[in-house]
Amino acid sequence: MNPYLTIATRAARLAGRVILRNLPRLERIKVERKGHNDFVTAVDREAERVIVDTLAGAYPQHGFLAEESGASGDGGEWRWVIDPLDGTTNFIHGYPQFAVSIALQRRGKIAAAVVLDPLRDEIFTAARGEGAYRNDRRLRVSRALTLEQSLIATGFPHSAGAHLEEFLALMRALLPRCHSLRRAGAAALDMAHVASGQLDGFWEMGLQPWDMAAGALLVEEAGGRLADFDGSENFLNTGSVVCGTPEVFQQLLTVIQNARDG
Ligand code: IPD
Ligand code: CA
Ligand code: CA
Repeated sequence: MNPYLTIATRAARLAGRVILRNLPRLERIKVERKGHNDFVTAVDREAERVIVDTLAGAYPQHGFLAEESGASGDGGEWRWVIDPLDGTTNFIHGYPQFAVSIALQRRGKIAAAVVLDPLRDEIFTAARGEGAYRNDRRLRVSRALTLEQSLIATGFPHSAGAHLEEFLALMRALLPRCHSLRRAGAAALDMAHVASGQLDGFWEMGLQPWDMAAGALLVEEAGGRLADFDGSENFLNTGSVVCGTPEVFQQLLTVIQNARDG
């Protein structure tokens, strides 16, 4: 295995253990509000600490961008982008859909990715140019050629703010066209499921780099395509992402662009 993936996998599994250990005692976990419908718990923080400690132990010269502790270290060309618990809202309700997401960037380009689903014990990994895997099986995006054949996932905007009207316009345009839409609540897993062919496409706006950095490489290495809503590769900066099989991606992007124009 790619050495970066070996360490990132170890870090993700340690974080997964922290998360699972706390699942039976949810009622005793203190939930803090970071913003409207944006929560953090001691579990997010502890999971992040074990990830950063593991990665920094192996690569003390690397930099970090982690959801709960922010940017640290002057990493030169290498930076780890970490979401220790993607799907915190699900976690605090005991709703079984959450993940650990770890990506490594080299000069801003995603080089390696790990997304762990601790409940299903599924670990999704990818290294640039080396393919994407779930546990030991190579992944390919689905064969869906059209939206009409597709199960598409999305994320709801956090608050009834800026993105809501645009989001509703998109739902209106897409619901009648595809098999159905899903909102499971963990963007990193949504993207991993596009890579594994269990979803045919995904779009969301208002995301942070740690929500999608690992998922993005999984999709790419599984033969999918992804972009920002304007079709550029700038999604990590703008927070809007659309992805899918090559054909579904293209059709989803067209619907998104038409809904925005109209
Ligand atoms: C959230 C999840 C969710 C997405 C939100 C994210 P968090 O991450 O990925 O699916 O819709 O925008 O903030 O806060 O649970 O790590
Ligand atoms: Ca997240
Ligand atoms: Ca998180």
